[in-house]
Amino acid sequence: MDMLNKLNIYQIEKRAYINGEYVDASDGKVISKTLSFDGREFSGIAACSKEDVDKAVASAKAVYESGVWSKKTPSERKEILLKLADLMEEHLEELALLDTFETGRAYINYSRDSLPKAIEAVRYFAEAVDKLYDESIPVRGTDTAVIKKVPLGVVGLITPWNDPMVVTAWKFAPALLMGNAVVLKPAEQSSLSAICLGKLTKEAGIPDGVFNVVPGYGEEAGKELALHKDVRGVFFTGSAEIGKKIMEYAGQSNMKRVALECGGKGPYIVSDKCNRIAEAAVVLAKNMFYNQGQICSAPSRAIIHKSVYDEFISVLKSESSKYIPGYSFDETNEVGCVVSREQFDKVNRYIELASEEGADVFRPTVTKDKPEGAYCISPAILENVNNDMRIAREEIFGPVLAVIKVDSMEEAISIANDSEYGLAGAVWTDDVNEAFDLTNRMDAGLVHLNSYGNDDNSSPFGGVKQSGIGKDKSVHAFDKYCDSKTIWMHF
Ligand code: NAI
Ligand code: MG
Repeated sequence: MDMLNKLNIYQIEKRAYINGEYVDASDGKVISKTLSFDGREFSGIAACSKEDVDKAVASAKAVYESGVWSKKTPSERKEILLKLADLMEEHLEELALLDTFETGRAYINYSRDSLPKAIEAVRYFAEAVDKLYDESIPVRGTDTAVIKKVPLGVVGLITPWNDPMVVTAWKFAPALLMGNAVVLKPAEQSSLSAICLGKLTKEAGIPDGVFNVVPGYGEEAGKELALHKDVRGVFFTGSAEIGKKIMEYAGQSNMKRVALECGGKGPYIVSDKCNRIAEAAVVLAKNMFYNQGQICSAPSRAIIHKSVYDEFISVLKSESSKYIPGYSFDETNEVGCVVSREQFDKVNRYIELASEEGADVFRPTVTKDKPEGAYCISPAILENVNNDMRIAREEIFGPVLAVIKVDSMEEAISIANDSEYGLAGAVWTDDVNEAFDLTNRMDAGLVHLNSYGNDDNSSPFGGVKQSGIGKDKSVHAFDKYCDSKTIWMHF
C-alpha cells in the first residue's frame, strides 16, 4: 500500500511550539527544501530566528523558576512521561509518516524499529527516575553532608535527521525527568515529528513552557540556542564539525554544559579465529546498509583477516543485494532514500573518490522501482582499501563500506584505533583470549563481541576522541541533565 495517501488524513502542523502554543516564526520565515523520496518541493515549516529562540528560552525560564515542573516529585514526572510514551504509541503511524515524508527513510523502518525504540527509551527513563538516590557522606562527629542532584534549568537540545525521534527521546526524556525545561531545535531536514511532539506533551500534562520546539536552520536557530546566556546546557547530536562549534559557542557565552555525539567510522574486525564468518557478514550488511548507512554507529570499516577474507566478502556481497533502496512509502520496502540532495551528492562523490584513490567498487546489480527524482543509493562495497585513504578516514554517512584486508589481529587493532573517531565497533572471534584482548584495546565507547547493535537502553551510548563527549542512554544519562550540589551540615 502507498502509505503516503494516509498522510493526508493528518493535519500537518508546521509551526514552532512555544509556551504551549503553535506559532509562526516571528519574521514569517519558513524552511524550503526538496524532499528525497520523490524530489518534490516542500516548504512552510517555521524557520525560527533569534527572536523566537529568545521567546522560547524566556518562557522555559519562567516556568522553570515557577516550580510547577521542577518541584514536582520524580514519580509525578514519571507518570506524565509514561503518559507521553502512550500518546507517542497512539500517534506512532502519524509520527512515522511525518519522518518518512521528510527524510525518505523507509516507512516500515520507522514504524517497526525506530519509533518503537524512541517510545521504549521514554518508558525506560520514566521508570528509572524514581529509583535514583542522592548521596551522603559518612557522619564526621557533628558534621555530615548530602550531595544532591539538582536540575540545570533551561536546556537546549539540537538533534539530527538520521533517526529523529530516537535521538530526541534519548535527550528530552532524561532532561525533563530531572526537572529541566527544554528548548528543542530539530534538524531542518526532520522537524515535523518534533513539532507533533509538542501537542502530545501538552496532552500528557507537561505544563506550558516546559517543552518548546524551535524548528529552523542550524546557523540561525541552533546557533542562537547554543549561544543563549539563559541556557545552562546544550546537548547535541550531529557532525563533528558542528560539535566543535557548539563548544565554541558555550565558551563565547556562559560556559554552559556541553555534550556531543558526533559520529564515527566504526571498525568491524573479523579474526581468522572466528568460526561464524557467514554470520559476521550477514550482521555487518544489516547494520551497515539498513538506513542507507545514515547511522553514526554504522560499522563502516570492515577489517578482515586475509585467511577468511574470500568467504566473508562473498557472503557480504550477496547480502548487500537485500538492501536495495526503493519507494519510501511502500510497506514492502525496508530501505528508502538518503535524506537530501546534498547528502546524495556527498555520498556519490565519495564513491567516485574511492575509484580515484585506487579502491575497487562493488555494487549489487539488482534495482527496485522508485519515483523519478528519488535520492536512492544502492550499497557500495569498497575493496583494496588502505586506512590512509580518505574513504577509510572520513564519515561518509551513506551505504558505503570500506573493506581492509589484514595479515594479523595486531595489524587489525592498530588500524581500528587509527581514526579520529571512536564511537562503536565490533570484534568477531571465537578465541577467548583474543576476544578479551581486542575488545579491551579497541578505542571506542561501545564495543560489540560477535554481534552488532544488540545493545539496549541500559547501555551508555557515546564515543571517545572526536566522536564526542558525554553519553546518551542508561541511568548514567541522568547525570548529564543535573548538577551536583553539596549541603554540608554542622549540628
Ligand atoms: P549538522 O551537524 O550540520 O546538523 C546537526 C544539527 O545541528 C542540526 O539540527 C542542525 O540544524 C544543527 N546545526 C548545524 N549548524 C549549526 C550551528 N552552526 N549551530 C548550531 N546548530 C547547528 O549535520 P548535517 O549537515 O545535517 O550532516 C552533515 C554530516 O554530519 C553527515 O554527512 C554526517 O556525516 C554527519 N552527521 C552525523 C550524525 C550523527 O548521528 N552523529 C547525524 C547527522 C549528521
Ligand atoms: Mg551541516
